[in-house]
Amino acid sequence: MNFELLTLDLATAGHEKCDVFLVLLPAGFKPGKNPLASQIDKALKAGDLANKSASLLDIYRPAGLACARLVLVHVGEAKASDIGKGVQAAIALIKPAKPKQITLCFAETPDSQTLHVALTTLAEASYVYATTLSKAEARSIAHVKVGVPDSACLAAPFAQTVAAVHGIELAKEWANRPANHATPSHLARAAQALAKSPRIKCEVHNHKEVEKLGMGAFLAVAKGSAEPLKFIELHYKGVGKNQPPVVLVGKGITFDSGGISIKPSAELDEMKYDMCGAASVLGVFRALAELQPAINVVGLIPSCENLPGSRAVKPGDVVTSMSGQTIEILNTDAEGRLVLCDVLTYAERFKPRAVLDIATLTGACVIALGGVRSGFFSTDEAMMAAIAKASESSQDLCWPMPLDDDYAEGLKTSFADVANVAGRPGGAITAAKFLQRFTGKYPWGHLDIAGSGWKSGKAKGATGRPVGLLLHYVLSFQGGAA
Ligand code: BES
Ligand code: MN
Ligand code: ZN
Repeated sequence: MNFELLTLDLATAGHEKCDVFLVLLPAGFKPGKNPLASQIDKALKAGDLANKSASLLDIYRPAGLACARLVLVHVGEAKASDIGKGVQAAIALIKPAKPKQITLCFAETPDSQTLHVALTTLAEASYVYATTLSKAEARSIAHVKVGVPDSACLAAPFAQTVAAVHGIELAKEWANRPANHATPSHLARAAQALAKSPRIKCEVHNHKEVEKLGMGAFLAVAKGSAEPLKFIELHYKGVGKNQPPVVLVGKGITFDSGGISIKPSAELDEMKYDMCGAASVLGVFRALAELQPAINVVGLIPSCENLPGSRAVKPGDVVTSMSGQTIEILNTDAEGRLVLCDVLTYAERFKPRAVLDIATLTGACVIALGGVRSGFFSTDEAMMAAIAKASESSQDLCWPMPLDDDYAEGLKTSFADVANVAGRPGGAITAAKFLQRFTGKYPWGHLDIAGSGWKSGKAKGATGRPVGLLLHYVLSFQGGAA
């Protein structure tokens, strides 16, 4: 899907040729004197466009306009959430007609947050998964013109939003692919493909190197599967070496059966989404490739399957992590923290200004926050402020969670330095406390996206979150800020 930014007001908009012309109208909007404006005026006065957010009026071949179909979209107070709901309703309405060219016209120039929500919602509402269908029908919308009264002031936010959309779609694509079409090797190849872009390099470490690095926790998880593990390392270098990078670590379990501590069968297919963190890191690099910003970013993805088998790690086994800490694996289903902890130790070598890991880590986080906000944990105040800001401006929301030391009590054991699970209470937090033990050397944060990364039920699918949030966060380091 292609996006183009145009300067359009309602007087000139009438000349736009397209399949569908969407006009976003805020409450209290005063139309000027031109054919389109008078249509809108009449519709509003007659009450045919209800004066409430997300109401629609669909007009076929409107007189005096070049478009085939005009859809008026009421966006109420024009808050980001109103714009999102309006765009979603409008795309749902026009989708069956399979339009190719659409023009999305803002009656008033939006701020960058509103623009971001409008375009990401448009992409989300028109998305179709096609990869593993024999007769797939691809998304019909190929070209989107975005018209605003003053386009000059929106050029940079527009470019950022379009890059975010491309990143989100890449993340969704990989997360949606079934586990046999998205193995660690497939993910490694996707990362290598990104390295064709300027300033991006990719290195893929295999089993032997991971062994040499002493990543005993990561190796323990990978042992149960014949599918070879991959440790993917991506570098985006947009400024000199003297600028320390931000490191993003994405959990890349391409299928999580639970291992010997096997999960129940119901909805087990959904554990193909256990690499949403990895997919979000790939998505961010896709956006960086497009934007070429002046920052340094490292992406690290430990990727393997978690399966039972004669070689699988067993409950009670004790392994030595790269940090030297020994871990008693009491539950093989708490595998995310095991693959992440070694990579968090590996991240030290980059002397990072911040390390943020992203993981579908705990069912407990789904219970705590549902699918609306990701759980965010951090010990660093600057990072907490930067993430809160990124969360707002991307509307890819997260919420701060606690890290009191008392939560780590349950991780104590007589047989190793630490156990990989505590009891059920506060499960998202005890998981974060486990990770925290490996992050003493840099400012650190952790996003639990078990609830936000994908949707279950009828509309099952990856959300592409938190690519929008991450992109805003890493770009906040432009010009040495944050
Ligand atoms: N990948 C799961 C977490 C998960 C659960 C993600 C549901 C999305 C939806 C993770 O590896 C896991 O199995 N966690 C266990 C931890 C427990 C054994 C302490 C969990 O949450 O049940
Ligand atoms: Mn698990
Ligand atoms: Zn998992």
